[in-house]
Amino acid sequence: MIESDRLVSGVEKPEDAAAEQCIRPQFLRDYIGQSKVKEQLDIFISAARQRGESLDHVLLFGPPGLGKTTLANIIAREMDHPITVTSAPVLEKTGDMEDFKFDIVIGEGPGAQSVRIDLPRFTLVGATTRAGGLAAPLLARFGITESLEYYSPEDLKLVVERSARCLGISIEPDGAMEIASRSRGTPRIANRYLRRIRDYETVKVKKGVITKDVAASALAMLEVDPQGLDKIDRRLLLAVLDKFSGGPVGLDNLAATISEDPETIEDMIEPYLIQQGYLQRTPRGRAATALTYEHFGRSGGNFELVPG
Ligand code: ADE
Repeated sequence: MIESDRLVSGVEKPEDAAAEQCIRPQFLRDYIGQSKVKEQLDIFISAARQRGESLDHVLLFGPPGLGKTTLANIIAREMDHPITVTSAPVLEKTGDMEDFKFDIVIGEGPGAQSVRIDLPRFTLVGATTRAGGLAAPLLARFGITESLEYYSPEDLKLVVERSARCLGISIEPDGAMEIASRSRGTPRIANRYLRRIRDYETVKVKKGVITKDVAASALAMLEVDPQGLDKIDRRLLLAVLDKFSGGPVGLDNLAATISEDPETIEDMIEPYLIQQGYLQRTPRGRAATALTYEHFGRSGGNFELVPG
C-alpha cells in the first residue's frame, strides 16, 4: 500500500528522522575514515576548549558527498555551540566581518555615519569543493584548512554497515563490501545505494538480508558497473573515446557533447575519474588513458610503453 498522505504532505515520519540523525555521525569519535583530518581537528578542538577560546576559522574542502557538512556540524557540537548555516555568496565581502568587527553605514549622503559593532566570537566553518575558487584574502583568514579525501573501500564498508544498523537493514559483510567498492569512495553515494538495494531486496528477493549477490544484482539494475562507474561516468568517458578519439578535448566542448554543465563535470564527475586513472587533465583538455581503453575493451590510444 502506498502511503499517499505522506507523498502529498511530505511529512517526515519520526522514525525516518531518527534514522537520518543516526546515519550522520554526531561526534568525531563516530566519524569513520579521514583519520588525519580527525586527528588534527581533535587536537585543535581540545586545545581551544582547554583554553576556553573559540576555535580558529576552519576551511573544509574536497569533492561533494565526503562529509564536509557533517564535519561542520560535528565541530559545532564538539565546541558545544549552536551552528548557523548560510551560503558563501552572503558572506562575499570579506570586510564584512573582519576581526570580529562589523561595520554598518547608517543613513545616506553627507550625513551618513559608519558604526562599528563588536561581534561575539564565532568560528566560521567554510565548506567548498574547490579552494581555488576562493579569494585569497578570504582564504588567508582560515587558520585551519582540512582537505577530505575519497574513502578507501574498507572505510566505506564500515560506513555502510553503520548506516545499515541505523536503518535496521540486515547486511552480510560481503554485501557491504560490494557496495563499498562500487561507491566512488563517497559515503553519500554508498548510503544512497544501500537504500536502493534495500528496495530491490524488499521487492525482488524478499529474504530480508543484503548479500553480495543481492548487492551485485541491484547495482547492475542501477547501471553501476563492477568498478563503480555509473551511467554518467561512462557517458563522459565514451564521449572522449568515441567522439574525440581519446582526446584531448576542451572542457566546454566535452560538456556540450554530453549535455552537462562544465562545473558539474569539474566538481562532481571528473575528480574521481582522474583519481582512479580513467581520465587525464592536460593543458589541452581532457584525455583518455590506457585504463579507459582497457575498461571499455577497446584497443587504440596512443600510449608510450614504458619499458620494464
Ligand atoms: N556517514 C556519512 N559519512 C560518514 C562517516 N564519515 N562516518 C560515519 N558515518 C558516515
